[in-house]
Amino acid sequence: MRIIISDSTREAISIVATQVIDRIISHPCSVIGLATGKTMEPLYEEWARQAQEQNVSHEKCFFFMLDEYIGLPENQPGSFRHYINKRVMQPLGLHSDQIAFPPVHSHLIDEVARHYEQSLKEAGGVDLQLLGIGRNGHIGFNEPGSLKSSRTRLVELTAETRKANSSDFTDANVPAQALSMGIGTILESKQIVMLATGKAKADAIKYLLNHHDDPSCPATYLKGHPNFVVVLDPDAASKINLKI
Ligand code: GLP
Repeated sequence: MRIIISDSTREAISIVATQVIDRIISHPCSVIGLATGKTMEPLYEEWARQAQEQNVSHEKCFFFMLDEYIGLPENQPGSFRHYINKRVMQPLGLHSDQIAFPPVHSHLIDEVARHYEQSLKEAGGVDLQLLGIGRNGHIGFNEPGSLKSSRTRLVELTAETRKANSSDFTDANVPAQALSMGIGTILESKQIVMLATGKAKADAIKYLLNHHDDPSCPATYLKGHPNFVVVLDPDAASKINLKI
């Protein structure tokens, strides 16, 4: 694991956006894994800004969405599809056939989850997976208790996660379930870049740094990955004890 502690939130965001852009410039056929959340919003803005500035084409890229709520219409503002359409697809000018979303509208959820895994394999796997982190250390929607070997599956969301994400819903009625790539799925990505900003993430980051393969904080499973980078702003890094 490599940790980058930046001097400001802006710098942290810029570092991650530059990593994505550099990857796409050097490998135009990249497969990128997308995450949602408030943390990612300024990152997607900066990505689009840098792409425009450097005239970067995304035509040959393919994108996989990390997770999605169950039971929401596609155009509902709280859905991740809506989020990604607005913040990634439109700004980057992507076509709908360049991105795969977890197929949450089927009744055969186990079957479609397996099919999603198959699509990932057929695309050659994810080259660069973007991740945020939940306050309880969840990644994607892999809540505490998730297994390291878990694959794309139906998951139950904790009350804490539903509360943290409630601002995306006008009626605060956050779905109780989601379809999420598993930890095992995420670990197969060739590179994983986590962005954490703000004081609300400081405890989770401290825990991540001090524990390994701890089911109560699924992000700790990533520490054994050979190419895992964590980019922090000063607030997210504020509880780390660096013993040099
Ligand atoms: C959701 C997403 C995660 C994201 C997390 C943190 O639960 N499924 O992928 O990392 O929220 O979001 P935020 O950046 O809003 O704190």
